[in-house]
Amino acid sequence: MECEMGVCLGESDGLTFWLARTQDYDEVMAISKGVYGGIDYLPHRYHSWMTEPNRVTIIARRDGKLVALESGLVVDGGTTEVVTGLRVCPSERGRGLAGVIQRVTDRYIKQVYPSVNIKRLTRSDDPGPEKLFTVLARRAVLSLQGKAETFDSFVLGLKAKLANMEKSGEVTATSHELVVLKDSHHLKALLLDPDLSSRLQLPGGAIIQDWLPLKPMESNLEVLRRSNLSWLADISNDKPTFMSCCTPPYPVPFNGGSLRLNIDMYGEVLFLAIKAMIIHLEQVREQIYGGVVVHIYIPHSLWEGMKKFCEGDEGVKQYMDFWEQLFLERELS
Ligand SMILES: CC(C)(COP(=O)(O)OP(=O)(O)OC[C@H]1O[C@@H](n2cnc3c(N)ncnc32)[C@H](O)[C@@H]1OP(=O)(O)O)[C@@H](O)C(=O)NCCC(=O)NCCS
Repeated sequence: MECEMGVCLGESDGLTFWLARTQDYDEVMAISKGVYGGIDYLPHRYHSWMTEPNRVTIIARRDGKLVALESGLVVDGGTTEVVTGLRVCPSERGRGLAGVIQRVTDRYIKQVYPSVNIKRLTRSDDPGPEKLFTVLARRAVLSLQGKAETFDSFVLGLKAKLANMEKSGEVTATSHELVVLKDSHHLKALLLDPDLSSRLQLPGGAIIQDWLPLKPMESNLEVLRRSNLSWLADISNDKPTFMSCCTPPYPVPFNGGSLRLNIDMYGEVLFLAIKAMIIHLEQVREQIYGGVVVHIYIPHSLWEGMKKFCEGDEGVKQYMDFWEQLFLERELS
């Protein structure tokens, strides 16, 4: 049903559910204060979500006031709903509203995209077995923060440490070379290589890019392309043992306004992960200003080594201790 508030999808328990619109932005922001400790992507992404193909964003209202939001993107050739953005306004929390809006979103997506039969999501806490989700993968997250101007000396320090490690023979990865993947055909060939998942131990068989899990398949390449990522791979023998991608820096509310970077890494070679971090940070050095937060998503085996490697800088420091990204899936009936 369409009215001046937009398209209404139904009502229950005093709530009405609507397709989110551009003009709902301020109300969405009003319920988003403090989400993810301020390192929230939604203020930056909301407007592009309104026009993104195969995305449905739903809001709930009580007495006209916006109280919750959930969004689902249909990927993997139309078989999978990936849910993102879930939030409930603080005064409504703890009463099950997150469950209600998720059920409304799942139902609506199933109605519009009947081929969807899997629901996937990533989150930082484990919902427990009673939620019927299968944990497909867990990744470790290393988070760093500093002022933009301190990243130059941080990177110089990392390079010096890396050179020492190479000199002392602590690392032996000389046969591996990381290259920047600029050519979209080359990137496509690498991503669609059927061996990729097993060689890089892709988490749950997916490329998880800034919390968005995508099977490496042709129909998802456009979703990745839209994210405007920079890609690196070790292509010494045309069969990479390591790949990484980095988002462009984007603004988040953290600390009165900061930039956020996300570096997703696939593969378990510490030396390459360190090198990739250096290259990605160098690539964005002209684009960063003010406070910067970097989330680096890695296999657990690399976390301690990466953390140690980054220690000791005056300007760029670890932000948050060890934390995890969980990749979950359940059937959508
Ligand atoms: C996390 C948040 C959405 C929970 O909302 P809530 O309405 O208070 O949650 P409740 O505990 O009352 O609701 C419980 C239901 O929501 C689900 N739920 C709670 N947190 C969830 C999460 N992070 N991801 C998915 N589902 C979640 C529960 O599984 C439960 O579902 P059920 O009704 O099917 O049993 C809310 O605290 C919030 O907005 N936090 C800030 C934003 C945030 O952290 N979002 C998480 C994104 S992963």
